[in-house]
Amino acid sequence: MALYSEKVMDHFRNPRTVGVIEDADGVGEVGNARCGDIMKMYLKIDDDVVSDVKFETFGCGSAIASSSMATELIKGRPVSEAMQLTNKAVAEALDGLPDYKMHCSVLAEEAIRSALEDYYAKNPEKRPKE
Ligand code: FES
Repeated sequence: MALYSEKVMDHFRNPRTVGVIEDADGVGEVGNARCGDIMKMYLKIDDDVVSDVKFETFGCGSAIASSSMATELIKGRPVSEAMQLTNKAVAEALDGLPDYKMHCSVLAEEAIRSALEDYYAKNPEKRPKE
């Protein structure tokens, strides 16, 4: 069996939403201290919906594929759903990642959450009540 699924290879070779949103409503950057890879997410939010999302990933192929898939999973979705995105959901949508590459999908979850936290920090009135 191939180490990586066709979806991982596809998103690695043709990442969908690479780039920067200059007037982003939320920006999040996270890194993995062990491998040194870095992921940055930019979100545009309109009416509590993620209307646009772009990323820059300086990292391994699994991190690039995870970023690309994660952005596809949250684009057009309500902020509340984007906040629930897990690395497992990202890995499943990619038809799996090798165990030792699961941490790469964690970066995608953390980067999106960090960007959403930035959005809430700038728009505290939008943060859902506990
Ligand atoms: Fe660092 Fe994949 S090896 S994120």
